[in-house]
Amino acid sequence: MERSGNHCEMRIKRFAYWFTGLAIVVIIWKLCLIESSVDNLQSIRKILDFHKDQLELTQQQLVFLENLAKKKSAGGLPTIYAVTPTYWRHVQKAELTRISQTLRLVPNVHWIVVEDSETKTDLVRNLIAESGLVVTHLHAKTPPFEQLKDKDPRWKRHRGVEQRNAALKWLRSNLQVNKNNGIVYFMDDDNTYNVKVFEEMAKVKKVGVWPVGLVGGLNAETPILDEKSGKVKGYKSGWKADRPFAIDMAGFAINLDLILKSEASFSYKMEKGYQESEFLSYFIKKEELEPLADNCTKVYVWHTRTEKPVVNGVVPGLEV
Ligand SMILES: *[C@@H]1O[C@H](CO)[C@@H](O)[C@H](O)[C@H]1NC(C)=O
Repeated sequence: MERSGNHCEMRIKRFAYWFTGLAIVVIIWKLCLIESSVDNLQSIRKILDFHKDQLELTQQQLVFLENLAKKKSAGGLPTIYAVTPTYWRHVQKAELTRISQTLRLVPNVHWIVVEDSETKTDLVRNLIAESGLVVTHLHAKTPPFEQLKDKDPRWKRHRGVEQRNAALKWLRSNLQVNKNNGIVYFMDDDNTYNVKVFEEMAKVKKVGVWPVGLVGGLNAETPILDEKSGKVKGYKSGWKADRPFAIDMAGFAINLDLILKSEASFSYKMEKGYQESEFLSYFIKKEELEPLADNCTKVYVWHTRTEKPVVNGVVPGLEV
């Protein structure tokens, strides 16, 4: 009786071992399946992203051709390459909508949008597709050590360095000196632009400058002109007016050829608040600046700042 009881127990044990072993094999097999389908999904996603890029490019080529036809009648104006760094926050779409619709009133613009993100986002992609503008869409992620924290004051870090440099790189690898007649303008997505500022910059030979409203604690910052010569002799600026070029990013535009012939770029090593000044020093002396906007007496661009909205809830399925 005892013997057969033992025997039975052993059989149950053996069965339990077999069962456990089999279960482990099945689990491993399942895990392998899951892993390979994750791999599959990832490669499908890559292919999808690739097709999205292709589609975007094709759409852009179409817009480009349409504009080329229009431009012939626009009287040989130089192309304005407007460089806009942008990053995700609740007001991003609103800001980009506003400035893209301003740009629709400018016949000779090529918009270079550079996202601060790992990949291009659908939000920006869709906005560009709807804009009807000639756009080059790039992305360049700001390294983590330079990212602005929510509570940091805005001046605490260099902003847009990575993105503006990506745009400069694109210009230098896609355009040619003396062939592409153009002007480069750094057009942040949170400012307000009068269409006239683009008419002014079309006159630029080397570097043109003009006043910028609502900046540096003043109603406007502006170059000060010498009455006799009409050249820039100094600056009215809320902060360090003795900088070689105390000019806001929105207050100047540069001839494309000067950009293409140089290797000038922005850098985290530049002193805070000196990005514009150091960048301009690559190209020109103060006396050579070309004062525009009726000898710097008109304001055509403002540093408006959208208040950060309070968002406590999100409606699913709505891209805002
Ligand atoms: C700007 O100033 C220059 C020299 O001071 C003068 O010749 C020119 O007419 C002015 N232009 C405008 C648009 O006021």
